[in-house]
Amino acid sequence: MSTLFDRIGLLYTGDPVREELENAALVVDDGQVVWVGPAGGAPSADERVDVDGRCVVPGFVDSHAHLVFAGDRTAEFAARMSGEPYTAGGIRTTVAATRAATDVRLAARTAALVAEMLAQGTTTVEIKSGYGLTVEDERRCLEIAQAFTEETTYLGAHVVPPDASSADDYVRTVTGEMLEACAPYARWIDVFCERGAFDADQTREILLAGAKAGLLPRLHANQLGNGPGAQIAAEVGAASADHCTHLTDEDVQALSSAGVVATLLPGAEFSTRSPYPDARRLLDAGVTVALATDCNPGSSFTSSMSFCVALAVREMRMTPLEAIRAATYGGARALRRSDIGTLRVGARGDLVILDAPAYVHLAYRPGVPLVAQVWKEGRRLV
Ligand code: NIG
Ligand code: FE
Repeated sequence: MSTLFDRIGLLYTGDPVREELENAALVVDDGQVVWVGPAGGAPSADERVDVDGRCVVPGFVDSHAHLVFAGDRTAEFAARMSGEPYTAGGIRTTVAATRAATDVRLAARTAALVAEMLAQGTTTVEIKSGYGLTVEDERRCLEIAQAFTEETTYLGAHVVPPDASSADDYVRTVTGEMLEACAPYARWIDVFCERGAFDADQTREILLAGAKAGLLPRLHANQLGNGPGAQIAAEVGAASADHCTHLTDEDVQALSSAGVVATLLPGAEFSTRSPYPDARRLLDAGVTVALATDCNPGSSFTSSMSFCVALAVREMRMTPLEAIRAATYGGARALRRSDIGTLRVGARGDLVILDAPAYVHLAYRPGVPLVAQVWKEGRRLV
């Protein structure tokens, strides 16, 4: 089955060779982009979609989300908006609710969030565990995640749970029995490397154990303060260092030299009322930047990549072009994927038709639902 998307006003391809095309057309065949070029010049296809001058972008790649959880943290958010600081201590509240929830309940909640994301143009999402923090709860959270995405991440090292006898003992579980139970369901391993969570030595030990089990490293790094996360991400060749809110010049240099993607999560700064990361410094140093939602009930309960793009443009001084690139191509780089995040020939036919003539409208018209259609692997899903 082939589909011709004709009369595209503006096509953002994400392909560095020809990143934007005006008055374009695109053909998807058997789930893959097979032709990109000027409107009117496309080969014929089984079906024709008249885009009618609107903008087409690749499906958003949300490379950082915590979707398997129960309960919410409304009261914590309200308290924060009345002046309380964010400490990540609330993670334990979600852990208790998640452990108490049935598989069916957790899966239904995850499905609802994935559907919410799809309706807003996200065609690939990474999903982490991290709210179970027992061998069986982490395992089942990842088994549930795997039903929704290939991009699953084992985050047993989110925090030391209150019922662990000691931090050392918990790290032994995370690198031993829990890793063994979780590795079959995960592609990635992640650690919340932060004061109050896991320190440099523990982070290295956990990532190394993960690597031995075949899991690829990514990190929560430098979210709440300066720390060793970004340097460790560079040292171990992590695909991505996520948050990057507090970086020294040496950290930026290390990310740049090692080719680690900096995944910025402005929904977290919005919801914790914290200063935004310095995207300009990273971009100017040649670091590839990704934008993701960090969707979770504590620090960033948004599923909207459009919202993150708007925040990146308004609050982080990214240009609209840099922001759409970060939300598509950047996310794909953060997941080491070359088949998604762009609309070049050979890429997956994952695309969004916006109810707007240009992607700039994602920031120019914040909060407005601009996603008109979502296609995944050549099939219309929204
Ligand atoms: O990425 N920082 C650690 N993890 C999440 C927050 C989790 C929570 O507060 O529940 C984050 O922001
Ligand atoms: Fe996170």
